[in-house]
Amino acid sequence: MEHPIAVIDFGSQYTQLIVRRIRELGYFSRLYQPSELRETGNPAAVILSGGPRSTLEEGAPDIDFDYLVELGVPVLGVCYGMQLLNRKFGGEVAPGNTREYGPATLLVSEGVDGIFNDLEGHSQIWMSHSDTVSQLPDGCEVMGTNLDGIPVALRWNERFFGIQFHPEVSHTTEGTEILKSFLGRATDLPVFKIASFKDELVEKVQAQVGDRKIVCGVSGGVDSSVLAALLHEAKVDTRNIFVDTGLLRKNEAEEVVSLFEEVGIEIETIDASERFLTALKGETDPEEKRRIIGRLFVEVFFDAVGDDVELLAQGTLYPDVIESATSGSIASTIKTHHNRVDRIMELKAEGRVVEPLDELFKDEVRELGRVLGLPERVVGRHPFPGPGLAVRCPGEITEEKLRIIQDADDIYIGLLREKHWYDSVWQAYAALIPTKTVGVKGDERSYEYALSIRAVTSEDAMTAEWVHLPYELLGEISNRILNEVPGVNRVLYDISTKPPASIEWE
Ligand code: XMP
Repeated sequence: MEHPIAVIDFGSQYTQLIVRRIRELGYFSRLYQPSELRETGNPAAVILSGGPRSTLEEGAPDIDFDYLVELGVPVLGVCYGMQLLNRKFGGEVAPGNTREYGPATLLVSEGVDGIFNDLEGHSQIWMSHSDTVSQLPDGCEVMGTNLDGIPVALRWNERFFGIQFHPEVSHTTEGTEILKSFLGRATDLPVFKIASFKDELVEKVQAQVGDRKIVCGVSGGVDSSVLAALLHEAKVDTRNIFVDTGLLRKNEAEEVVSLFEEVGIEIETIDASERFLTALKGETDPEEKRRIIGRLFVEVFFDAVGDDVELLAQGTLYPDVIESATSGSIASTIKTHHNRVDRIMELKAEGRVVEPLDELFKDEVRELGRVLGLPERVVGRHPFPGPGLAVRCPGEITEEKLRIIQDADDIYIGLLREKHWYDSVWQAYAALIPTKTVGVKGDERSYEYALSIRAVTSEDAMTAEWVHLPYELLGEISNRILNEVPGVNRVLYDISTKPPASIEWE
């Protein structure tokens, strides 16, 4: 896309959120490393992010300031970005001994033509820094201070602005307004709409694939379904492979097949559930279980498509690229040495891995799926982990345990849908607690598994809150599971936030 709003990444944990907030405002934004400034093309605006380092340290990340000035577009420095700009303009930054972390108050200066156009008086902001600006260069104006009168927002000239706080986090109550007001200073803003971005993606896929054959692994999850739908829309020669690991939800394999039939996309199903169960037999170590599943998945996949594939499609999303994270990517989920995993790496090195979703966030992928005509029951699905129910079955995985998790999950998710809770929850599932506890069934004592049910809200899976489901609903879920799922005599509701807990059990 032309004229992106370039966010330069100095390493803050929030940088990705800046990109996201801008896209939520309807403009296209991308992340670049400081060394990539010249590769931003003709950006409409540049934002220098925060970062964990001090600008005073030797070897601290720097920016080509002359080029930044030459670009002639509005620039906003956030935190580290602000301190860096202040020094570039001839001001000074003093080292801090402690880190200021948490909420603070912004007092907007009157009569400064800055980026707080719609703000007046006080506003709550979120700070995370140790160094502070200690001397302002000539011509620099203070757009705002904290309650102690220390400058937290600067304007060096009509194009260069800086803020010491983070506009991208939700604790800065008017952060989005501030970003919007800053972008109001730019011209030629790149309007970002998924419907038109889809056409761009289709053309890009066609150019990348050409007449070659491409293979695509589908799982029934949002990302791979959207990927398959995009390849279908691009009319490239695709072979879609669905590996049934036996670690899927109840009836999921049948549902995936019928869904793809419905939208006219051909898929080949490989039932490898026996192979997976056998390979996992006796294994209790969570990481080893993951490795076994990852390795076998690749093995089964390449058994089906052969080793000399021309092109491989992967549903890697933007956050995965940024963090080199694991979800959605076959290769990166498997860290151990393995020939066929190496094969994926080789394909990647040869430029044979096509990742058309790698500029999109999850909610944008859902939107793209809708534009491509995928039904809501697919695009609105909760995320499902690559290793499937294995991460919800601590200890050894057995057929019986999987059956219990599947049956309980089916009842639980069914009730969440029926009572209109499903869409407001990020993820919900049942996990088996691998301990049998005493209960009473009829006149006899029973000795059966306990089950945990979990529902969380989250924006990006990095943090999560448990959902306050009504007691009546929890009661109904528990009753139905206890009555209908043999092998369970206790249901617990998981009320742990992330951190310190994770979303999944393993
Ligand atoms: P955790 O449990 O780490 O989960 O809080 C965060 C998100 O990632 C999903 N998840 C995985 N996805 N492979 C995946 O593809 C995995 O091994 C894996 N482990 C967790 C989880 O469902 C949640 O959405």
